[in-house]
Amino acid sequence: MTCSDCASDDLQPQFGADGSFSLYSGRFGEGFHGSIGALQEARLKFVEPAQLERFSPGHTLLVVDVAFGLGTNSAALLEVAAAMGLAVVIHGLELEPAPLGAALAAESFRRQWQPSTLTMLEQLLSGGQWRSAGHAASLHWGDARQRLGPLLDGLHLAGRCDLVLLDAFSPQRCPELWSLEFLSQLARLLRPDGRLLTYCSAAAVRRSLQLAGLRLASIAPLIAGPGAVPGRARPITWSLGTAASPSDLPEHGPLRALSPMELEHLTTRAAEPYRDPDGRQPADVIQATRRLAQAASPAASTSAWRRRWGLKHSA
Ligand SMILES: C[S@@+](CC[C@H](N)C(=O)[O-])C[C@H]1O[C@@H](n2cnc3c(N)ncnc32)[C@H](O)[C@@H]1O
Repeated sequence: MTCSDCASDDLQPQFGADGSFSLYSGRFGEGFHGSIGALQEARLKFVEPAQLERFSPGHTLLVVDVAFGLGTNSAALLEVAAAMGLAVVIHGLELEPAPLGAALAAESFRRQWQPSTLTMLEQLLSGGQWRSAGHAASLHWGDARQRLGPLLDGLHLAGRCDLVLLDAFSPQRCPELWSLEFLSQLARLLRPDGRLLTYCSAAAVRRSLQLAGLRLASIAPLIAGPGAVPGRARPITWSLGTAASPSDLPEHGPLRALSPMELEHLTTRAAEPYRDPDGRQPADVIQATRRLAQAASPAASTSAWRRRWGLKHSA
């Protein structure tokens, strides 16, 4: 791969509140990370909800990172897991090398990582593979909808993964990676105690994960006031995301059961799944199909649910 493969006018650097490096995508009309910052998001929404203390030192974590992007989630996970004596095998799914190339060209991004982590990211960009001290990673470039099948059936990852990290752009911008069909395929990757983790708490995504046979937990928002963890921000939302597993999830640490408000959300029209039966539908078709299904749905109105629970913004 050459540097010209990585260049993209579409991508603009941006920095979150924690000062870490991120990008804005003109093509998708969205930032790669939220305002709290890429590193903080990786820690709060992916690494901590993974609860790596569940695993004994020496265990090899098998991870699929969907929408690998700059690699922030995988890199953050690798550094924490390695410090705990865990080995990590990562399979990344990513549309194009441009985001990782743009990140690696920025000194502020490179400074975020330990030397071995940086080597992993560089080798993934240049050759799609990395292997070191019991860890391994590979990047599978292209539309994740087409690249997932070979992971499941070619590499025989079905039922073997400890973690699936799902960090696609929002369902409004990238519905193709949140469809019932794609989420059901991701669910097939998980071991019985494996976890799919995502920043997304949209009802359509949670309902689809349930329909795929997974149990749900909410990633708890940050709590201020008595009992707060020092240094943590005030809550900015009712949930930081979703954990899903074939088995019941524990209700401790960053995970908690869905609240009555969140459960009721799943009975509204917002829970109408995104559908992509052949895994090749464009975003506008997936959105239009869902709008038609919502219009015909007997489910309760989402705006009434929002008013009842005093929510200002759409969820
Ligand atoms: C929110 S960013 C991911 C950020 C990333 N997880 C990180 O930690 O830096 C979403 C990523 O999804 C990728 N993407 C968009 N559509 C995709 C598709 N159909 N298949 C695979 N990747 C896709 C984009 O190129 C972008 O890198």
